[in-house]
Amino acid sequence: MAFSLPKNSPMRSSSFLYGVATASFQIEGGVEHRLPCIWDTFCATAGKIEDGSNGDVACDHFNRWQDDVELISSFGVDAYRLSISWPRVIKQDGTVNQQGMQFYIDLLDELNAKGIKPFVTLYHWDLPQYLEDNGGWLNRETAYKFQEYTKHVVKAFGDRVHAYATLNEPFCSAYLGYEAGIHAPGIVGKEFGKKAAHHLLLAHGLAMQVLNEFSPKTLNGIVLNFTPGYALTDSAEDKLATHKANEYFNYWYSKPIFDGEYPELINELPAEHRPEIHDNDMEVISQPMDFLGINFYTRARYQAHPTEMFEEIIVEGVERTDIGWEIYPQAFTDLLVDLDTRYDLPPVYITENGASIDDEIESGVVNDVRRIDYYNKHLNAVNDAISKGVNVQGYFAWSLMDNFEWAEGYLKRFGIVYVDYQTQVRTVKASGLAYKKLLSERS
Ligand code: FCB
Repeated sequence: MAFSLPKNSPMRSSSFLYGVATASFQIEGGVEHRLPCIWDTFCATAGKIEDGSNGDVACDHFNRWQDDVELISSFGVDAYRLSISWPRVIKQDGTVNQQGMQFYIDLLDELNAKGIKPFVTLYHWDLPQYLEDNGGWLNRETAYKFQEYTKHVVKAFGDRVHAYATLNEPFCSAYLGYEAGIHAPGIVGKEFGKKAAHHLLLAHGLAMQVLNEFSPKTLNGIVLNFTPGYALTDSAEDKLATHKANEYFNYWYSKPIFDGEYPELINELPAEHRPEIHDNDMEVISQPMDFLGINFYTRARYQAHPTEMFEEIIVEGVERTDIGWEIYPQAFTDLLVDLDTRYDLPPVYITENGASIDDEIESGVVNDVRRIDYYNKHLNAVNDAISKGVNVQGYFAWSLMDNFEWAEGYLKRFGIVYVDYQTQVRTVKASGLAYKKLLSERS
């Protein structure tokens, strides 16, 4: 089975960048060589992770990274998106852990030697636990710690990196971590989410200053995720509720960055739920960027609610992946066009897109036809957005390989490579072969 993009699609050209993505906590293991992070603590708390697992070994990438770079290279990708584990490279006193830093330097050197462009994400959720003990993202000081960490990383990596993203999905860190409490550090309460979000956005802005000063040649930006909300009915009430949900979950992160202000909804939030915004914060947050990374998986449906601002409805009878996310590729095109209309966007890279499928391996083969279908539809959705004028320059499949899927543990598989967690044997799935074929047939 193969992917099919229209004959004249710019996504069939070798100038369109393709890659695969991972994140430190989800694949590395090697836990004894770094400080604890909030996900270690969260995993150690009963009932937080679906299968009771943790990131101690994960895909053992810390020990198998050379083979994994071979694997990455075998797809013929242009780029590899990885993240840096902050508690691996910085000690509690704020100085560099040379051995931890060297792990990434060696990895980056190997990628470069193979002609693979490293897209480095500085924060993919593994906050050092000692910073959480001091308030984590509810403490403004953490944003400045992130700026210092960024400076250390950038200086150590020199010219080995192609692109830096400051944060991955600040929505997840802020909302899932400090409001819904289903991600680390598991704090619950509407009074916390937007405060954490503000400090994360500030951290992004402070890191952008460092990147632009010390790493002006790399592409510097951020990775945001969007789950576009669609109204359940055409009623004015449902549409208004959906507008608010979109402001609360999606534009809350993009508007400060591109327009230097929060969505209007901020005025409707009770004072105690609002962030404390200092003079100049919004200027720091809204600095120009070289690229925007967009992660897309699914959409959400909303209706009006008598007392809440909106209510999410899980609609029956629609096609979903095995993590329960609706398959609705049109939302991907709509989102890209919408963002392009709203903001003066820099070049866009799709930094994550993919599907969780309950794969089975039989005689060394994983025939993940549903994942192939998902990728095919979503690649075409990106192509449609490009035809409508959106400047999308690249696409990363999430993920290179099955890995630790946060609160779901190892139960959900997103890889284009199957991982047997008992033996750590990696097997390229049919989707991986289709991806490789697409990449090799570019002109
Ligand atoms: C995104 C995360 C990524 C992965 C995918 C499935 O929200 O950035 O780490 O877990 O979802």
